[in-house]
Amino acid sequence: MTAVISAVEPGTIDLSAPPRTLTAVVADARSVPSARREAYAEQLAALAEHPRVLVVRTCHRVEAYVAHHDDDRVDLPVAPDGARALEDVEAVRHLIRVACGLESAVLGEDQVLHQIRVALARRQAAGPLDPVLGRLAQVALHAGKQAHALFGNERRSLADLALDEIERRTGSLTGREVLVVGAGSMGSLAARGAARRGIRVAVANRTPARASALARLVEGRVVGLGADATDDLDDVAGVIVATSGPWRPDPYRVRRLVDGWASVVDLSSPQATPADLAEDLGRRFVGIDDLAWTTRDVVPDDVADEIDVLTHAAGTEYCHWLRARVATPTLARLAESVESRRTAELERLLRRLPDLDPRARELVETMSHRLVAGILHGPRTALRDDADGDLERAVRTLFGLDEDRA
Ligand SMILES: NC(=O)c1ccc[n+]([C@@H]2O[C@H](COP(=O)([O-])OP(=O)(O)OC[C@H]3O[C@@H](n4cnc5c(N)ncnc54)[C@H](OP(=O)(O)O)[C@@H]3O)[C@@H](O)[C@H]2O)c1
Repeated sequence: MTAVISAVEPGTIDLSAPPRTLTAVVADARSVPSARREAYAEQLAALAEHPRVLVVRTCHRVEAYVAHHDDDRVDLPVAPDGARALEDVEAVRHLIRVACGLESAVLGEDQVLHQIRVALARRQAAGPLDPVLGRLAQVALHAGKQAHALFGNERRSLADLALDEIERRTGSLTGREVLVVGAGSMGSLAARGAARRGIRVAVANRTPARASALARLVEGRVVGLGADATDDLDDVAGVIVATSGPWRPDPYRVRRLVDGWASVVDLSSPQATPADLAEDLGRRFVGIDDLAWTTRDVVPDDVADEIDVLTHAAGTEYCHWLRARVATPTLARLAESVESRRTAELERLLRRLPDLDPRARELVETMSHRLVAGILHGPRTALRDDADGDLERAVRTLFGLDEDRA
């Protein structure tokens, strides 16, 4: 018996109405096309160092997480059509699911975890980051790491999905050749994934030396990209494009691709393949957004259950941290109030016992400190674990903290 992991009910995370702290603006491939996502990402770049903004950008999503404060607001660029805003609990739950690979086309893929880790590291290197966002990212990364361990060692990526798509159109690729355009991280994943399946690999890249290095790794060959290239591409059964800039194949070779039977999967965002080539290829062209809609993997029920527990725990942990943070001023005020009582009482006692010798005075003072610390220990611990804020309100009333302030 297997279960679709997307069916894991995120509503099971009990975050018990924490205060409004966070908004996530989510533009993903299922509702916002690549070009609009990338344009939004460019606009968000102006906020790259804003302490209250964290941008997560992957090939299938551009997301802005914004921490709120009562006194101030962050002006975000207008979100593209199709984007959605998630508040507080929903935003937390969403990033945890993204990090766990539950929102990915390839269920449990680990590239997304790497991308969040890099986004956080870059953001922290750029300047101070609001602790709410820092903690959120840490909790999500931790959950993501645990979730990926549950998915097992089989490391599937979008490159594997690309190979699946080509095979679906042209039949088994074993023993045939695939052209990989791009020798960066994604090109390398595609080439290595193909080699693992017994597919022959040809590599084309803007920088020839990188193409050669990758081709050597997978015992493939290098082919040129330019108009003067003469390499034979007639036997290429499929092309995987993964470049951070436009792919400009020469027109003659393109015609041969279109006239032949090769399929092209472009993993780049924004799309690197020329629009007219994509159109001429028709159903033999698959873009990055098309991959977002491919059938979801299924996982065994027990793994689905464990991931449900894990995402629940991660959400709850974050919420507890948030509550403790909110409770901190109350803790400080409680300590301040009790300390001022202790000092006042001690002074009164010492005034009434003027002949007390220094050693006895010291002992009395130490005892007063101990007494206060002992009495405060319970409330302190409870407040740090106060999920719904009830205890905090009770402490404020019982100890008259609001009156003290007034
Ligand atoms: N990394 C992922 O997890 C992932 C997942 C899905 C999709 N993607 C998409 O795949 C694409 C490549 O990502 P990556 O992670 O592999 O990046 P990367 O490691 O930085 O590699 C970039 C590749 O693009 C080539 N390139 C850069 N600018 C170019 C230009 N102006 N014209 C032609 N080629 C150019 C580079 O060639 P040189 O060697 O000459 O620099 C290199 O082969 C991106 O569009 C990305 O959004 C990435």
